[in-house]
Amino acid sequence: MTQTRGAIIVGASSGIGEALARQLADEGYEIGLAARRTERMREIGNELPTKSYVATMDVTDTEDARAGFFELAEAMGSVDLVVLNAGVGPFNPKLEWEPERRAIDVNVRGFVALATAAMEYFETVGREDHSSELDGQLVGISSVAAHFGGGGVQAYCASKAFVSTYLEGLRARQRGADSNVSITTVEPGYVDTELSMGDFWECSPETAAKQIARAIQKEKTHVYVTRRWRVVAWALDLTPNWLLRRLL
Ligand SMILES: NC(=O)c1ccc[n+]([C@@H]2O[C@H](COP(=O)([O-])OP(=O)(O)OC[C@H]3O[C@@H](n4cnc5c(N)ncnc54)[C@H](OP(=O)(O)O)[C@@H]3O)[C@@H](O)[C@H]2O)c1
Repeated sequence: MTQTRGAIIVGASSGIGEALARQLADEGYEIGLAARRTERMREIGNELPTKSYVATMDVTDTEDARAGFFELAEAMGSVDLVVLNAGVGPFNPKLEWEPERRAIDVNVRGFVALATAAMEYFETVGREDHSSELDGQLVGISSVAAHFGGGGVQAYCASKAFVSTYLEGLRARQRGADSNVSITTVEPGYVDTELSMGDFWECSPETAAKQIARAIQKEKTHVYVTRRWRVVAWALDLTPNWLLRRLL
């Protein structure tokens, strides 16, 4: 008999997180949905073909969010996969403090609060499960925006650069560690959600979810969604700053 797999998605109430909840449930995962909009998550959960759990959490209340994460994991019994997807992308050309603070609070503080909780879970509870070689899988949703500083979205771009570099650090930390946690960085281009900042090469949340699920299945370390965004990321990395400033 195959063991039931469990996945927690933080930021599961809309967009990419919602589509990924549906995709992973179709693949047989039981889903723990976490975000602030409880009713919306209940509705999504009720539509899933597998068992679902809902945890109301605001990742900016870091202590509460971490406690909520551990409670959710305990309720689910076993969690093999954690996807950290919660994010905000305020457009703030006037450089007001509140939107900048919000981007950092959700995308950086909230992200690390949950990433450390997930790693702690995998390195303790995950390690006790000897039926699998892998102690767990952590997936972080960053962005192609990690590769440049965009005017008006400076905090968003910087926060995503933080996410990508932080995940790289977690992978480096894995080398020589006793635990075996697979860590995947996802860098989407434009995905058709409320947060989307453009429509060039935009894909649907469902297409994004399919590609993320495939990367999870293959235990990839890094993936662009859709794949052709890698060209943009490479171009951004290679273009001199003075030229980028003229173009963007
Ligand atoms: N759409 C794009 O073009 C694009 C491109 C690159 C990367 N991304 C990244 O993809 C991720 C998902 O975004 P999306 O495009 O699917 O947008 P979305 O539909 O707005 O989804 C954002 C998710 O984050 C959750 N969230 C926001 N603030 C939160 C908080 N304080 N506490 C807990 N959850 C919170 C939201 O839930 P509640 O509001 O219910 O809390 C929602 O579930 C983000 O990290 C985003 O940066 C998106």
